[in-house]
Amino acid sequence: MTQFIPQRLLVTGGAGFIGSNFVHYWTSHYPQTPLWVLDALTYAGNLNNIHTLIENHQISFIQGDINNPVLIHDLLNQHQIDTIIHFAAESHVDRSILGPGAFVNTNVLGTFNLLETFRQYWIGQGKPDHLRFLHISTDEVFGSLAPHEPSFSETTAYAPNSPYSASKAGSDHLVRSYFHTYGLPTLITNCSNNYGPYHFPEKLIPLMCVNILLGQTLPVYGDGLNVRDWLFVEDHCRAIDVVLHHAPAGETFNIGGNCEITNIDLITTLCRLMDELALNLPVAPSHRLITFVTDRPGHDRRYGMDTTKIKTQLGWLPSVSLEEGLRKTVSWYLNHSDWWMPLLSDDYRRYYHQVYGT
Ligand code: NAD
Ligand code: DAU
Repeated sequence: MTQFIPQRLLVTGGAGFIGSNFVHYWTSHYPQTPLWVLDALTYAGNLNNIHTLIENHQISFIQGDINNPVLIHDLLNQHQIDTIIHFAAESHVDRSILGPGAFVNTNVLGTFNLLETFRQYWIGQGKPDHLRFLHISTDEVFGSLAPHEPSFSETTAYAPNSPYSASKAGSDHLVRSYFHTYGLPTLITNCSNNYGPYHFPEKLIPLMCVNILLGQTLPVYGDGLNVRDWLFVEDHCRAIDVVLHHAPAGETFNIGGNCEITNIDLITTLCRLMDELALNLPVAPSHRLITFVTDRPGHDRRYGMDTTKIKTQLGWLPSVSLEEGLRKTVSWYLNHSDWWMPLLSDDYRRYYHQVYGT
């Protein structure tokens, strides 16, 4: 197995959900590696996610846009970066339906700008093998599965259905083309739905946790029978670590929890855990808050990931069961209202009303 040892990391989107979890993971496992986070701090970016690491000088933070070529050029050269881990994106499907432009701008054009600036830097260094551009992508690029269809593998044809997944597919194709055309040492990972701490409360699991704690309705799209494959975010971080260290350049890997569940079963489980762990909920039992609402337009029915490749080639497996991961996540939201309460801003409320009505 090849081994690549990252020396100087640039993490884009490191103030977001998975990015910040990754930065915590990395600094606790590899405290010696210098690490810079580049993040535009959109509504989804939150310095509170990583402020202790910044204050303790374990990482450096730069506020900036991946669409800024001068900034990227300067960062790469000043800090002699050898590894980019690219999380930065617009990531929420419902927002991509309301306004797809930002998704094309960040996910397609931003990734292109990052790739192209990295390519020029790589050429300037004499095209060494020991650089990496690891692009973090999603299972949604493969489209939607019928109930009994086999899970997505790395060779499944792309069939994105939302502006979000189409923009991620576009970025994946660009990354792939930079390896095949120029030989730029890139890697792509496509992961299923993550959950855990620091998850912005527009996504299903944190939204349900916050609404249960506030005694607000739990909006279930359509019939609630759409299926997602959930992975605890720390397991995703470990998979990225393994891919970065051991995968040959040019490869793609699927990552998933082997843990498919319907939305309604997941929400019922969250209600059970909240009822068990929280004292004095405004409405109990909390499943009484479940409300079926109009479906998401173009809602993908089912995602499922075949993770045979990463398991057999790199030895990675998820380690946290859904019950254990949800318990940890529910406890985290229960104990961190100081983190999520300030996020329920006027902007958030406006967004909420646009998607859910009153
Ligand atoms: P997120 O929305 O929580 O975080 C995105 C981060 O990117 C934010 O900190 C935001 O400020 C930053 N950002 C946005 N536009 C930027 C720009 N133009 N320049 C610099 N920074 C910018 O997203 P997430 O859920 O943490 O997802 C991270 C990545 O993982 C995304 O690429 C997403 O497509 C992918 N992914 C997410 C999941 C999931 O379940 N959340 C699953 C698979 C893959
Ligand atoms: O599959 C990976 C993807 O998972 C990532 O690429 C995306 O960045 C991430 O946002 C996530 O996309 P989903 O659309 O699957 O996640 P979301 O949490 O928005 O919704 C999960 C499921 O729950 C989906 O079937 C829609 C449903 N849902 C969601 C919300 C917010 C509801 O029923 N009600 C809701 O209020």
